[in-house]
Amino acid sequence: MPRLAVLGHPVGHSRSPAMHNAALAALGMGEEWSYEAIEVAPDGFEERVRAMPGEGFAGANVTVPHKGAALAVADQLSGPAREVGAANTLVFEGGEIRAENTDADGLLNALPASPSGRRALVLGAGGAGRAVVWALVREGAEVEVWNRTELRSIHLCEELGGRPVADPDPGGYELIVNTTAVGLRGEDPFEELPLAAGRFSEGQVVVDMVYGAGPTALLRAAEAAGAAVVDGIEVLVQQGALSFRIWTGREAPVDAMRAAARA
Ligand code: ATR
Repeated sequence: MPRLAVLGHPVGHSRSPAMHNAALAALGMGEEWSYEAIEVAPDGFEERVRAMPGEGFAGANVTVPHKGAALAVADQLSGPAREVGAANTLVFEGGEIRAENTDADGLLNALPASPSGRRALVLGAGGAGRAVVWALVREGAEVEVWNRTELRSIHLCEELGGRPVADPDPGGYELIVNTTAVGLRGEDPFEELPLAAGRFSEGQVVVDMVYGAGPTALLRAAEAAGAAVVDGIEVLVQQGALSFRIWTGREAPVDAMRAAARA
């Protein structure tokens, strides 16, 4: 009976259990496998993870605020996990803990086309921003990074590539990715971020990693201007599909996962 879980703090709002249990059911694996949410505070994280293999867990997702701690507890790191400096996926195998990062490739898989050679603006230099910049730079995009606290974007670019930008013209990019928390609590993206509703256009792709009950103000404005939009749930689905394949060895039923994540 292999078990899977998402570890977070808080974790109650996570759509991962619904999404992964739908995937297991769609493949007829729901009798054997299960996926649950586990609330764990930072000071209990390491102990909780170390106990999991003995409790029948085959792997786990790790979400805020544990993505850095997940690296520290692992015996082995995948290349992306090491380079991004964060892990969202753990695998328990052969007495070892392996850390992987599927956030980076999940973002790439959520895009309608390859970002190679495209001018891209990444907003935010936190954990989510790091995975996005690493993915886009590696794919050959021309990446610029804006952050409210400029020193953070300067440091991020020194480490991962891309160029820090203090005052970007949002009309000048083919791809814009919001990795900041702006919009999560109803903040106005056009107040807090260097964006203007009138500067979106057809031919742009706009991604908002923030998701909630419906489309964010940022994506509504981008879509109204004719831009292609990708929401945070699609990015969640794509990272989840990659994690699912790592744990089960099976191709993930992405449509079932998307339907459950959006329900
Ligand atoms: P995560 O791992 O989700 O990226 P984080 O490391 O706390 O979380 O980063 C949050 C990001 O949202 C940061 O880029 C933060 O900007 P600062 O580095 O200046 O703090 C950004 N952010 C949060 N609230 C913001 C706001 N009101 N306006 C602009 N940026 C904001």
